[in-house]
Amino acid sequence: MRVLLIGSGGREHALAWKLAQSPLLKALFIAPGNAGTARLHAPGVEIANLPVDVSEKPALVATALEKKIDLVVIGPEAPLAAGLADDFRVKGLAVFGPSRAAAEIESSKVFAKEFMQRRRIPSAKFSTFHDFNRALAYLQELERPVVIKADGLAAGKGVILPENPGQAEAALRQIMIEKTFGAAGDKVVFEEKLAGPEVSLFGFTDGTTLKATIPAQDHKRIFDGDRGPNTGGMGAYAPVPVCAPAMAEKITRDVLQAAVNGLREEGRPFVGVLYGGLMLTSEGPKVIEFNCRFGDPETQVILPLLESDLLEILMACATGRLAEVDIQWSKGAAASVVIASDGYPGKYPVGRPIAGLDQNTPDSFIFHAGTKEQDGRIVTAGGRVLCATGWGENIEQALKSAYAAIGPVRFEGMHYRKDIGRRAVTGILHG
Ligand code: AMP
Ligand code: GLY
Repeated sequence: MRVLLIGSGGREHALAWKLAQSPLLKALFIAPGNAGTARLHAPGVEIANLPVDVSEKPALVATALEKKIDLVVIGPEAPLAAGLADDFRVKGLAVFGPSRAAAEIESSKVFAKEFMQRRRIPSAKFSTFHDFNRALAYLQELERPVVIKADGLAAGKGVILPENPGQAEAALRQIMIEKTFGAAGDKVVFEEKLAGPEVSLFGFTDGTTLKATIPAQDHKRIFDGDRGPNTGGMGAYAPVPVCAPAMAEKITRDVLQAAVNGLREEGRPFVGVLYGGLMLTSEGPKVIEFNCRFGDPETQVILPLLESDLLEILMACATGRLAEVDIQWSKGAAASVVIASDGYPGKYPVGRPIAGLDQNTPDSFIFHAGTKEQDGRIVTAGGRVLCATGWGENIEQALKSAYAAIGPVRFEGMHYRKDIGRRAVTGILHG
């Protein structure tokens, strides 16, 4: 099979790495990829980056046709929200990734909240506003802690957890008046603030059948002890002790399968991976957000634990045959530590040479995220630069391997959290 994978992050390097292990794979092109995907090798398989950006829809479709692609896999949310999967499907190509309409489960928080309410999927209570003055009046009346969310895509920065009414009003002004997130801020959602440990659970789906992965936990804040601003994710581990198999099954049935059924019944069949971000509250699991794609860095811990053929699973989803596929998971654990540029999630420098990248071991791998090749050297090219992943029989061993893999890695200003997975090891749930 000939595969075109779209994206350039750590998630896409992990997808490419796992796809490259498939005996079904003949050729893999990554558009645009990163320095890690450029260096992937598999015997008898053609693997190459193609310099086409994820926003160049006509060029991507032309590339897929020219390269005689059998399956297109779309990694990030922005091209999905822009309808890239639809553009490929119009040409008769098999695609792993939802249509623009199905991707609204992530790209519009107002749609997602109203959908969950209609389908009785457990989630925080909410109100939505189109008008700044009405939103402000509501905020001023409110006596409970609130979470403020811009409606549209905002690269993980559109969620504000204000600590006092002044901060809440300032956030509302930024979103609706100053338009910090552009049109994503035309509408806002206010949500009841929930409490409890967080878990990410993904489901592979062909639009009807859904098969869940094992749960993972992300670490969203930039600094140790969950301090500082939210990021795209600074590390992850899987499985998650606070989300035992019975809980994962409940979430699979009441949240993921319920959403896939609802989307299909409402004429927006969802094909791809549905990401449920949940909080395990005292009243049971509640959805914080849905995403229409794999999580990053959760994918980097989930895929090393997948024993089945990823290409077979993705192809089965794209062609409506997921019910026929058996998915097997390892009994072990995996942990990932993101290595970021100084300044991230704010402004950060790029072009810094990276040393110590050739040390992968049988129980670790360094996935690239924001890297590129420049004059024969690998340099930094993003906020999240690398994702060191380790695996083993349990989380302690996985963490040990992940941190050992970071040992030789060096670039100026590198920053990573030292406490990934600590909660799972010490049994402290959150806080
Ligand atoms: P999101 O981008 O929707 O994943 O939100 C970012 C983070 O904000 C989540 O990982 C949670 O930690 C937090 N968050 C979002 N919604 C809520 C809520 N309703 N109650 C408490 N925390 C929330
Ligand atoms: N790690 C969070 C996300 O992918 O949205």
